[in-house]
Amino acid sequence: MKRISIFVSGNGTNLQRIAEYFANNPDVEIVNVVCNNPKAYAIERAKSLGIPVRMVTKAEFNSPEFTQEMAESRLDLVVLAGFLWKIPVSLIQAYPHHIVNIHPALLPKYGGKGFYGEHVHEAVVAAKEAFSGITIHFVDEIYDNGETILQAYIPVSEKETPDSLAAKIHQLEQAYFPVTIEQLLFRR
Ligand code: GAR
Repeated sequence: MKRISIFVSGNGTNLQRIAEYFANNPDVEIVNVVCNNPKAYAIERAKSLGIPVRMVTKAEFNSPEFTQEMAESRLDLVVLAGFLWKIPVSLIQAYPHHIVNIHPALLPKYGGKGFYGEHVHEAVVAAKEAFSGITIHFVDEIYDNGETILQAYIPVSEKETPDSLAAKIHQLEQAYFPVTIEQLLFRR
């Protein structure tokens, strides 16, 4: 049995898709959803999906006790699915190369602090980029910096708006994130 924990801060569309993708796989268990935002719609999604939700405050999240709790959960993968806090070094060291993040742009462009969700798409459209896409990467001590696992590209049209681009990027995320997680879980 492969055990994963999914960290969320917002809407939770990726959480939903990942949970549905693995729903009929008896070898994968989503142990819990860790959430830092009491207003996140992802909480409702997790409840409907029957996944336990672990709410965290910032102090708790950065405490040695939280890392300990996660380490004791014996996870095969920690999945950041729209999670907006920096991961404490202690947690990265507990799960080296076993924490993955999805970013809605082609890193290293449009990454780093402040670049999340719609802010990324606004910046890409304003810069008239010809392409955007997604980056799935391992998490290391530096924000949006870890080794790239996969990038997928789409063209940005001249009429693109941040909203239309966001919709296209979400489709890419839905197509690639669950299958990439599966490959990481069952790599040899
Ligand atoms: C996703 O587009 C994800 O790539 C992005 O947040 C969104 C969450 O959507 N992550 C970042 O910007 C991380 N820097 P969701 O809550 O509907 O899955």
